[in-house]
Amino acid sequence: GDHAPAAGSLAGKHVLITSGPTHEPIDPVRYIANRSSGKQGHAIAAAAAAAGARVTLVSGPVTLPDPAGVETIHVESARQMLAAVEAALPADLAIFAAAVADWRVADAASEKMKKDGGALPPLSLVENPDILATVAHRPNGRPGFVVGFAAETQHVIDYARVKLAKKGCDLIVANDVGGTGVMGGDANTVHLVTVDGVETWPTLPKEEVASRLVAHLAQKLAAAKAG
Ligand code: CTP
Ligand code: CA
Repeated sequence: GDHAPAAGSLAGKHVLITSGPTHEPIDPVRYIANRSSGKQGHAIAAAAAAAGARVTLVSGPVTLPDPAGVETIHVESARQMLAAVEAALPADLAIFAAAVADWRVADAASEKMKKDGGALPPLSLVENPDILATVAHRPNGRPGFVVGFAAETQHVIDYARVKLAKKGCDLIVANDVGGTGVMGGDANTVHLVTVDGVETWPTLPKEEVASRLVAHLAQKLAAAKAG
């Protein structure tokens, strides 16, 4: 284009974000879930839109409203989330903030399970696809910059470094979800982990983490383009 976007802006960029938990069905009325509220991912979507990006948000079940100016696609399970993410590509930047269920029930019942007979229902679990790793390892159509989150209760930085390498992403936003109610809460303490090192931010409201992260990523994209 003829008009250079303002510094820090994401104008002209397509940003793809996952947010919220996933629900993995056990039967038509029951599911496996986790404590993610979607607050951090939704705040990032809103901040990216405010920075001028076209934003696609693939959201698991949350009670939050769809962020203004963001195309929001609602899914329930991890497999639905992967399909929606792949359908939304290509993207310049992808941010995987969802707390995807690691396992699903192998054979979800098509009818409500009944307790008659007294026998306990056996639930066998199978691993869900890793959405972040799948997208980051795409031979074609990989987003230009891929960001993962790492929710940890111990060894936060070390585990984040392992995830950075294993999942093939460019940056891991690591947060300590032990103790103080980060999941579902309004504040977050994050460490930005890359191959170059670790940047630790103070505890901030999730909206502030979102706007700082978007500014940080806009700079990275601009630097990648310039370099
Ligand atoms: N993720 C994903 N798909 C999955 C599992 C995780 O896209 N099936 C993404 C999350 O959105 C996050 C990152 O991978 O960006 C790390 O998620 P996390 O749960 O911390 O890591 P896991 O690889 O699932 O490992 P574990 O839960 O065993 O620590
Ligand atoms: Ca996990």
